[in-house]
Amino acid sequence: MIPKPPRRRACFVVPLLAVAGCGREQSSLNPAGYDALSITQLFWVMFAGAVVLWFLVNGAFYYVSRIRPGRFDERLARGILIGGGIVLPLVVLTALLVWGLSLLPDPRRPGDGLVVRVTGEQWWWRVEYWPEGADEPVITANEIRLPVGQRTEFRLLADKVIHSFWIPALGGKMDMFPGRETMISLLPEKAGTYRGQCAEFCGASHAWMAFAAVAMDPADFDAWLEAEAADAVPPADDAAQRGQEVFLSEGCGACHTIRGTEAVGQVGPDLTHIGSRLTLGAGRSKVTLDDLSAWITHTEALKPEVRMPSYDLPESDLAELSHYLKGLK
Ligand code: CUA
Repeated sequence: MIPKPPRRRACFVVPLLAVAGCGREQSSLNPAGYDALSITQLFWVMFAGAVVLWFLVNGAFYYVSRIRPGRFDERLARGILIGGGIVLPLVVLTALLVWGLSLLPDPRRPGDGLVVRVTGEQWWWRVEYWPEGADEPVITANEIRLPVGQRTEFRLLADKVIHSFWIPALGGKMDMFPGRETMISLLPEKAGTYRGQCAEFCGASHAWMAFAAVAMDPADFDAWLEAEAADAVPPADDAAQRGQEVFLSEGCGACHTIRGTEAVGQVGPDLTHIGSRLTLGAGRSKVTLDDLSAWITHTEALKPEVRMPSYDLPESDLAELSHYLKGLK
């Protein structure tokens, strides 16, 4: 048997790879919330309609060019032109417009109580939780947790450039502007861990500006938020104690806050509970000892143009610092 030429095979392989790239955790085709589901339903109906129309148009083309070439009855031709060219698009597009517009009010609805204020930074996410009636927020970074079955309201801002807030599995996207607050609300329906991604080009590390989005049972969420509101745990052993001293003496506290210590910097992400986060560097790495050390020593390589400089530390200092940070549960 003659093997198929590679280009032909590529026609099948490339789309398959592209589809395989639609991972479950960051895919609007894998909806886990009310808002994402309504968008997905609209998409599938439009997709099915497009497939039907594609076959109708190309079938008609094939029919008149290959099966029955020649002149057609003028009344029939006019009927097809007016019916298929004016009436059908008018009906279909009007129906889709009405359906599409009917989806807009839901993500604009106020939340059921919890308000989360997210600020897009270069290239990470500043996150503040405002439970109903709270006087001050619970501050964290680069991870968003939501109670399942409740609509959460997001108040979005940006620091220097425009970003876009998007958790494909939970809903649509919303731009974030410096100096102008925007809002979107999301109603997760299925507990799980998803991935959010900045969806507006915002500089060199735009593609590295992601976050973990975790939808939790409301009781688990309340427990998590309470733990998140607490100060950092004190160093658990001597190595962690020395790691904390390295953190403070190297000046890390000028940019980062670790509540309960003298580190109160506001430039970079809050690290009070960094050890319990699912990602490091806004979706860049995992929170392991190796990845923490790699991040501290190769920040610029891991996230081009990031404002945090790479640190050249003695090996033991680096190990103790990573150990301390990992212990900040
Ligand atoms: Cu922030 Cu792209």
